[in-house]
Amino acid sequence: MSVVVIIGAQWGDEGKGKIVDLLAEKAKAVVRFSGGDNAGHTVINPYGEFKLHLVPSGIFHRGVVCVIGNGVAVNPVILLEEIENLQKHGVDTSHLFISDRAHLIMPYHTLLDGLEEERRGEGAIGTTRKGIGPVFADKIARLGIRTCDLLNKKNFRARLCQVLETKNAILTKIYSVSPLSLEEIYEQYCSYAERLAPFIRDTGPLIQDTISGKQPIILEGAQGTMLDPDFGTYPYVTSSSPTAAGSSIGSGINVKQLDHIIGVFKAYTTRVGGGPMPTELKDKIGEFIRERAHEYGATTGRPRRCGWFDAVAGRFSTQVNGFTGIALTRLDVLDALDSIKICTGYKLNGNIIKDFPGDIDILGKCQPVYEELPGWRISISDIRHYKQLPAQARQYISRLEVLLSCPVSIVSVGASRDQSIMVKQIM
Ligand code: GDP
Ligand code: IMO
Ligand code: MG
Repeated sequence: MSVVVIIGAQWGDEGKGKIVDLLAEKAKAVVRFSGGDNAGHTVINPYGEFKLHLVPSGIFHRGVVCVIGNGVAVNPVILLEEIENLQKHGVDTSHLFISDRAHLIMPYHTLLDGLEEERRGEGAIGTTRKGIGPVFADKIARLGIRTCDLLNKKNFRARLCQVLETKNAILTKIYSVSPLSLEEIYEQYCSYAERLAPFIRDTGPLIQDTISGKQPIILEGAQGTMLDPDFGTYPYVTSSSPTAAGSSIGSGINVKQLDHIIGVFKAYTTRVGGGPMPTELKDKIGEFIRERAHEYGATTGRPRRCGWFDAVAGRFSTQVNGFTGIALTRLDVLDALDSIKICTGYKLNGNIIKDFPGDIDILGKCQPVYEELPGWRISISDIRHYKQLPAQARQYISRLEVLLSCPVSIVSVGASRDQSIMVKQIM
């Protein structure tokens, strides 16, 4: 059987949650490997509509082991709320596990994220203010506190005491705000520890046993490749790697064990937060897409910036990840358009370039070069077989396959689990 990696191929919110929920039916385990509760994965299935921030989107399938991997930053308050909400809706959460190596989001992380955004003023990144930058900075600076620390109160207190001294110096001396109380945080986190302890364990053997038993595993990405700290539009990026390579580090599954790498692409482009987006439409079409598709953030509710499909960024993302297949989502959103554009190159200083620039000053000067294809002007939401799609929709898909040099494996034509066309079997 196989390890299937589901990756956000653009700037996040591509529909990863929907695709994982769909594929998880045939999986033995689903593992989240990066990000934190900055993610918002919408899942619509017979249990209802959910916006998952930390719990893997495979949770709705009984018997599917769901792991919050070592690469995820866990905010215990958010996680507990999420578990409670799932249970309230009749979802069994007894098959959820949290890696004992995962880092914890602490109150100073969220506080510092907000303060730093205020300080940046006009140049704010537009983060979700969930503490993501600060928690991953602490991980690398060896100042982190992990879920395993929660299981040992004495160690936890000592660690918190040491780290909080540094954090309070920063809060008071640099940001001129009040220090945080050691006692308050300690008490609060001890109460979370009690409730989370049953879920925390070394998840490595669990995952490796599943692989040895030749049972299928899905690795669920968060964010998108163009938000990667190395390959995204730095510094307008997130702080952990949403890529296929990141899936290995964030789960403990070695790179030789990855079998299929599926890039989830929206049929157009969206971005939420600051930073360059070459194909952004600041006109009626952009507004039309946002309203028709209700493009508002699942985590922060912010309006998403909308634009045409960017095949320059898409090709780059395909190379960085080594996609073996594409899940193309939200194709139905384009139903009402007379014609559809695809950006096939960037115009820069009179030349056409095809490579995605690493310097955002250069990227900001790039003008998209478009190719125009005819629309199909009928609803495709009820179609379940590839051949039944209108010829123009198939032409659009084929053109993307050529531009990205990668075959399309799934076409999604609506938000519900069943509104999906399997072009090739993945699991
Ligand atoms: P994720 O973060 O990648 O899981 O994506 P989000 O959940 O943040 O955003 C994707 C949005 O698109 C959600 O509102 C989904 O319900 C919705 N969605 C996913 N696939 C489709 C589709 O094929 N058609 C339509 N109309 N909506 C979709
Ligand atoms: P999912 O998993 C879309 C964006 C933020 C901001 C930048 C940095 O739902 O696709 P951060 O809070 O991570 O420090 O913010 O990254 N961002 C996302 N955009 N979808 C996400 O997750 C995102 N997670 C972070 O908007 O621009
Ligand atoms: Mg999302």
